[in-house]
Amino acid sequence: MTPAAVSHVPNRDAVVQQDLGNVLHPVVQHKLLEQQQLVIVGAKDCTIVDANGKEYLDAMAGLWCVNIGYGRTELATVAAEQMQALAYYPHTAMNVPAAALAERVNGLLGGDNHVYFVNSGSKANEAAFKFARQYMKHERPGEVRYKTISRYFAYHGTTLATLAAGGMGERKVKFEPLGGNDFVHVAPPYCYRCPFGLTYPSCELACVKNVETTILGEGPETVAEVLVEPIMSAVGVSVPPDEYLPAVASLCEKYGLLLHIDEVINGFGRTGKMFGHEHWGVTPDIVTIAKGISSAYLPIAATVIKDHVFRSFYGDPAANRQVQQVNTYGGHPAAAAVALRNIEILLEERLPERSAEMGRYLLDGLGTLRRHPWVGDVRGKGLLAGVELVKDRQSKEPISAPHMQAMADSCRESGVIVGRSAGGRRYSNTVTMAPPLVITRSEIDRIVDVLDRAIGRLGGQLAGSA
Ligand SMILES: Cc1ncc(COP(=O)(O)O)c(C=O)c1O
Repeated sequence: MTPAAVSHVPNRDAVVQQDLGNVLHPVVQHKLLEQQQLVIVGAKDCTIVDANGKEYLDAMAGLWCVNIGYGRTELATVAAEQMQALAYYPHTAMNVPAAALAERVNGLLGGDNHVYFVNSGSKANEAAFKFARQYMKHERPGEVRYKTISRYFAYHGTTLATLAAGGMGERKVKFEPLGGNDFVHVAPPYCYRCPFGLTYPSCELACVKNVETTILGEGPETVAEVLVEPIMSAVGVSVPPDEYLPAVASLCEKYGLLLHIDEVINGFGRTGKMFGHEHWGVTPDIVTIAKGISSAYLPIAATVIKDHVFRSFYGDPAANRQVQQVNTYGGHPAAAAVALRNIEILLEERLPERSAEMGRYLLDGLGTLRRHPWVGDVRGKGLLAGVELVKDRQSKEPISAPHMQAMADSCRESGVIVGRSAGGRRYSNTVTMAPPLVITRSEIDRIVDVLDRAIGRLGGQLAGSA
């Protein structure tokens, strides 16, 4: 693989100095970056290449987002042509690619929606919170419905409100308090570590009962929406029981709440269907999308609302019912044009179907890792998979964060980049995988082989630290 960009590698050491002296990076500790100086200069399909010419198989598609794979130069052409015609104009007016993209997205989600464009998953969820509140103000004027019910261990974004909606204590602690009681959490459908200590199906879906108890406890007349990611990604890819999502949707209907589904990672073929919630046949009122909508070639995201919600925003200007917010980059013409072509590629190449097929192959391969005593669970759907590592299968005690780090480092040194669950210090013990949907069988074999060897080495490390 020789990505075109690699022929223009700048002086690597100069870039490292320039970066370390000037850039503030997200999440990673700079002290660590000083030791692990990864400068990425090019990529093609599932492979990225660093400034030393070393290639890595990217089993995480960047941040779970490069669904069509790297190096599709035709998207650069689409962006350039659109920029020459119209690079930007605010979306208070209409533009050609954003209208076409909205029609395409609407069609994929049933044809009875309107699409509000933003430029990140966090902003899409923020807009959804506001739409749900505004809708309730219009439609239920006698009530004060503003709360969002979401799950512990979920991740929905990095802004203050999306962080509050998320359920990861360690991600929030440095910024708390995060406002009032707007975001109320319920137990996640994380069956391997069932919060109620039960086992499916004899659990009778205690996690759903917990949602209903919470709605009733808060008072349905205070709740605007329930927010769920169909398959919880960040906790380490937790696939819920089949009854879960339909049961939550029924509760929303019963208590007059909007169902807000976060498809930021699940969407655009990742789980083997175009959208994750399609596996369970539910009809959300609000869907948030990002990442795979453009395979991250340009930043674009959206909040998609069903027409019954849209109608609440429609009326005489004097009634002041319109959407009460604006963002500079919403409906960006170049990003919209690229996203539209990206979706056409997903459809033309039948990448959601490919994700289902290759996902089965990946899960079969990962299943063989169960022979290691430290593999507690293997789970996934489509090309979204997790391998949970434990010190002991009986107690399910997670392997430590340093051991997890050593595992990921060892995979990277062997040329495969895997991810880790984001469960703070305690539950960062699941290896996550979300490769580009164009991944081949031999690349999957390589991921499994590299993981196999890295997990094999864990035994010695765990014994050494016992
Ligand atoms: C499920 C989910 N929702 C929302 C977001 C936030 O997206 P962004 O990072 O584009 O703001 C993420 C990011 O990883 C996510 O995984």
